Amino acid sequence: MLIKLPRSTDPLSSEITPREQFQSRRHFLTQLAAGGLSAGALVDAAMANDAVSRARLPARINPAYTAADKATAIADATSYNNFYEFGLDKGDPMVRAGTLKTKPWTVRIDGEVKKPLTLDIDSLLKLAPIEERLYRLRCVEGWSMVIPWAGYSLAELIRKVEPTGNAKFVEFTTLADPAQMPGLGSRVLSWPYVEGLRLDEAMHPLTLLSLGMYGQVLPNQNGAPVRIIVPWKYGFKSAKSIVRIRFTETQPKTAWNSVAPDEYGFYSNVNPEVSHPRWSQATERRIGEDGYLTRKRKTLMFNGYPEVASLYSGMDLKKFY
Ligand code: MTE
Repeated sequence: MLIKLPRSTDPLSSEITPREQFQSRRHFLTQLAAGGLSAGALVDAAMANDAVSRARLPARINPAYTAADKATAIADATSYNNFYEFGLDKGDPMVRAGTLKTKPWTVRIDGEVKKPLTLDIDSLLKLAPIEERLYRLRCVEGWSMVIPWAGYSLAELIRKVEPTGNAKFVEFTTLADPAQMPGLGSRVLSWPYVEGLRLDEAMHPLTLLSLGMYGQVLPNQNGAPVRIIVPWKYGFKSAKSIVRIRFTETQPKTAWNSVAPDEYGFYSNVNPEVSHPRWSQATERRIGEDGYLTRKRKTLMFNGYPEVASLYSGMDLKKFY
């Protein structure tokens, strides 16, 4: 995302991070705070440190949701991130998101539902079988990745709270704690980060409530401890580090749509025929395929998930971008 103006992470008890790894992370962060690491060492240390300190999250591969594409290297997926709560540069979340405290963590699910709930991460981990799904995710900035996420259809959770007849939309709110998130000082968005879906989009089995990736709990920079992944929409719809899921009768006011409605529509389905005012959406750069002679890939309608087309039958997707 570019700006126009300057204007189980609660692991299963058998999988708790060993103390040495936790301490090595602390050591790394202390050195980082003291300015004792060079830029190159900083990146290497952040990557190495991050890779060892996450709990495993076993997940059964669901072949029905496994893209034929090659997965992006974990080092790329965890070092090239958009998570503005930790800074605006792609490398900021990896280096700075260590301050995010993901335990204890609860998600409040309320609004137009018959059975409002507050769930901690252990309860979310147990709510449905954890599946691994290899999804393409395309950012409106023109790059894409392919990530093996771990989680289950958001519909599993939605069924538990029993939306009322008034529920037409679902709003997702990210944590906004300045003590943990240095990026909240930036005025680029009005915090907290909020995203939304129509209820039928949220119920579509492709919409994933994700608790992990690459067989581990989510790294902080990728939205620990729980986020959504909506693979047929531009990446900004996939809100990270969610603390509240609210069912509403009216369309939620979402973060990017509020700041630049002509650039970021509520729907934001991947659509190669509708350009963003500043970027064509016809092609994309797959992270990891960045060789000098590498051709960009053609972007596919709905990011190559045609099964969602029926959600939009009769809608003009140029108007409802
Ligand atoms: N969620 C929050 N809370 N804050 C953000 O800045 N960035 C979005 C989305 N979710 C963002 C967010 C954007 S623009 C993208 S492309 C994806 O997260 C990136 O997810 P990834 O870093 O795991 O690849």
